[in-house]
Amino acid sequence: MTIVGRDLSRRYPLPKQTPFERRRFTDALLPTDIDIADGEAVGIIGESGSGKSTLVRLLLGLDVPTTGTVEVDGTAVDPTAGPRALHWLRRRTGLVFQDPYASLDPRMSVGRTIAEPLWALEIPGDHRARVREVLTEVGLEPAMADRFPHEFSGGQRQRIALARALVHRPSILVGDEPLSALDVTVRAQILEVLRELRNREDLTLVLVSHDIGVVQALCDSVVVMKDGAVVERGSTAEVLRRPTQDYTKRLLAAIPTIRT
Ligand SMILES: Nc1ncnc2c1ncn2[C@@H]1O[C@H](COP(=O)(O)OP(=O)(O)O)[C@@H](O)[C@H]1O
Ligand SMILES: [Mg+2]
Repeated sequence: MTIVGRDLSRRYPLPKQTPFERRRFTDALLPTDIDIADGEAVGIIGESGSGKSTLVRLLLGLDVPTTGTVEVDGTAVDPTAGPRALHWLRRRTGLVFQDPYASLDPRMSVGRTIAEPLWALEIPGDHRARVREVLTEVGLEPAMADRFPHEFSGGQRQRIALARALVHRPSILVGDEPLSALDVTVRAQILEVLRELRNREDLTLVLVSHDIGVVQALCDSVVVMKDGAVVERGSTAEVLRRPTQDYTKRLLAAIPTIRT
């Protein structure tokens, strides 16, 4: 999947402290150009509040930009056009978030949870068979489909969330801090699953992470964000070896998991 963002920005109104106060705003993302190539694996790093999630939401049409445009495979993404208008993009996108506890409905069996995108996106075929298949892809047992989220550990739940993100065979997988809530051993296991997916050359990967080790293991290129702006971008090897910005150097120095 090819993504082209031009002049993308997002300004949010801040809540008023008193009714008489003038409305104030925060620039979550300053005007930004970004290109993601088909099959590329891009890491987005930067301190908390630097605009990583905002950028990702805009690229996927999950939020309305204050300025700018997004094109996916040459088609304009218009998040204001109504739910049906972006059906094509939803079908092609898989999303994983940080918290595997919050992202799974405790009342739904694992099988139903994973199958949900298939019926929500009206994808034809044998859903049960596809669920079993994708469970295997993420290193779980097909029989786990009949069980419930509370029966699983954090790492297993994140595999379930990953299976749900992959079940409809998206062209792009987007992870917003998908490993951050996991302990070190589990993180390494999920990283391995992602690394295998990465070898599917038709899958574009966008990974938000403050763990440089994760970005180093998975991503061809890296985007460094600070205060709503992209301050550095380049191949992962180049940026990690020779960061040009002091901010990137500090970011790299602050992270204990870097392996060189
Ligand atoms: N819905 C929102 N309303 C108001 N401010 C927001 C909203 N979403 C994000 N922000 C603000 O925008 C900035 C960037 O946020 P975010 O993109 O979530 O950063 P990151 O993902 O890098 O931690 C932060 O200052 C955050 O408080
Ligand atoms: Mg975020």
